[in-house]
Amino acid sequence: MRCDQTPAWKALTAHAAQATGFDLRTAFAQDPSRAETLSQNAPHVFADLSKNLVDTATEALLQDLAEQTGVAAHRDAMFRGEPINTTEDRAVMHWLLRQPEGSLGGDLAGPLAQVHATLQPMLAYAETIRADAQITDVVNIGIGGSDLGPQMVVLALQDFVMPGKRFHFVSNVDGHELSAVLAPLKPETTLFVVASKSFTTLDTMVNARSALAWFRAQGGAHVARHFVALTSNVAAAADFGITTTFGFWDWVGGRYSVWSAIGLPVAIAIGAQGFRDLLAGAHAMDQHFLAAPLAQNLPVRLGLLDVWYRNFLNCTSRSIAPYHSALRRWPAFLQQLEMESNGKQVDRHGQPLTYGTSPVLWGEPGTNGQHAYFQMLHQGTDVVPLEIIAVKKPSHHLAEHHELLLANAIAQAQALMLGKADEGGHKHFKGNRPSTFLWLDELAPASLGALIALQEHRVFVSGAVWGINSFDQWGVELGKVLAQDIRSRMRTGDGVGLDASTAALLKVLTL
Ligand code: F6P
Repeated sequence: MRCDQTPAWKALTAHAAQATGFDLRTAFAQDPSRAETLSQNAPHVFADLSKNLVDTATEALLQDLAEQTGVAAHRDAMFRGEPINTTEDRAVMHWLLRQPEGSLGGDLAGPLAQVHATLQPMLAYAETIRADAQITDVVNIGIGGSDLGPQMVVLALQDFVMPGKRFHFVSNVDGHELSAVLAPLKPETTLFVVASKSFTTLDTMVNARSALAWFRAQGGAHVARHFVALTSNVAAAADFGITTTFGFWDWVGGRYSVWSAIGLPVAIAIGAQGFRDLLAGAHAMDQHFLAAPLAQNLPVRLGLLDVWYRNFLNCTSRSIAPYHSALRRWPAFLQQLEMESNGKQVDRHGQPLTYGTSPVLWGEPGTNGQHAYFQMLHQGTDVVPLEIIAVKKPSHHLAEHHELLLANAIAQAQALMLGKADEGGHKHFKGNRPSTFLWLDELAPASLGALIALQEHRVFVSGAVWGINSFDQWGVELGKVLAQDIRSRMRTGDGVGLDASTAALLKVLTL
């Protein structure tokens, strides 16, 4: 049933109207066990949800909504390999990439065997590159999911990265990026990884062609040794002239593909065992998502909170604050994951929606954000739920720094909630501003795997409630087509048939 037609939606609307006076400070005063009730343990992640603008009644209604919109049935359909990406008639099985070998029977036994038959040579190749002292620089050329996942993970796991290898990520078609990366490199010490699920993405193809031209112009001889492709379009990679290719399947969405061959830079960086640990952490979260009752299921609770804020409290954005500098690409990774998945205006049947879907996600690592835009979180006119990620154990020995970092993370959540009422005017903090606190014991392959899978599943949950297809991205196509038309007009400035505004912009180029 469409979410806005359910009894739970109606009940939540009434509940939200009644709850306008809800105050976190009062809620904690009235219920000393609130922190416990509104916390959730999941594999590698402990979540304190208690500073959200909900009480147990809100959560119960949200769980009713999940039941009435068939979230669990939709989840089970995904895990059965049904083609839930209906607009592309594809299954959605990124979770299969982290499923232990031989652990599934029936129709999924074959695909799982293929997953492992592909994973093993990919990891073996990663080990040969690690052992090859001549290769010092790995350049990943890819964009969107073929960039953000591996880039975020390699950065996040920098403490696990093999010494002697440097990793570069070129995504933008802007030649400034490629030329800056290439400038200090030598062909004989560089491995280019051309990562593109479709192997047709213009940005990536142009960067790959320019990298190949640079390689040859610099005297590089062995393309087969220095270029590798990661794609589900193996034939296109061969046409391009790359003979070493690791493939994957159309049932892996780009933004869900770091677990596939697209993870090769990660495997080179942290080794085969590290990559397996990443997969194992994600698998543990898959099991939690599949097995835990809705009321104790962290992806479900987070996804339902997202729906609560978006549709009942009219919050249009969520701010992300990883209190770990190695997670600096985490907000960008989440932007694609959530906004490309759930930024949709029609339901699964193509019918227009009358309610909001994906919020805007944005953020920076703490404490940087505190000295930039947290002002708006504390005293702005909009309520923006904040999601803090903190890591208990640092990997450095600067104890004072880590104490200060965590003290800041906790204090921000406290300040947002408590506010400060004893002074008025400019110095008044209203408080009652929501935050979620996600704790990891350490930032390591397994915990990062679990954290990523948690986000994937929470996006699944809100998308399932909204009744949308979270696994297509038709909205990116129009700009691609128009860019080709504009490009063909650029040299002449030919504005015939264009709208007046675009023609005027084009004309600037010819002035
Ligand atoms: O244009 C959007 C998109 O299709 C993303 O969904 C995808 O992650 C990215 O482009 C890159 O696609 P590919 O891996 O096929 O080059």
